[in-house]
Amino acid sequence: MSSHRARPEDPAKRAMLLTALYIAQEQYGYLSEEAIARVAQRLGVLPMDVYTTASFYTLFHQEPVARYRIQVCEGLSCFLSGEDDSFGAEGLLAYLRQKLGLKEGQQRSADGKFSLETVQCLAACDTAPNMRINEELYGNLTPAKVDSILAELAKE
Ligand code: FES
Repeated sequence: MSSHRARPEDPAKRAMLLTALYIAQEQYGYLSEEAIARVAQRLGVLPMDVYTTASFYTLFHQEPVARYRIQVCEGLSCFLSGEDDSFGAEGLLAYLRQKLGLKEGQQRSADGKFSLETVQCLAACDTAPNMRINEELYGNLTPAKVDSILAELAKE
């Protein structure tokens, strides 16, 4: 049986696919299997091609996105920081994992509110160690400061 579905190598189809994925993610919050199937059906392409395209771009998420996306800087300045009551990137990561109750390999808190990942230099080396939560940058982090930031966010 031959398929009459177009392959998204066609530039116009590909552009439409990216737009459709963007809209679907805006609508559903992430690209579930159902959302991918819908996009494929609407555009007349194979679900596998939609999935491959969605996986290629970091802009698209195949799992629900946490409300607060915590990005810990692992750049050199943050990695080497950590005197007195402050900590370096590794200590900060370990502290956050413990505070959020994340098990080995787990990246999202059980309530789905927080996710944790590492990034390279957030371009604020003078305030190392740093982390970004969504669009907000937090520097000169100490355990007490992290506690108060998480407590504030947990209230919302
Ligand atoms: S190394 Fe962390 S902000 Fe530059």
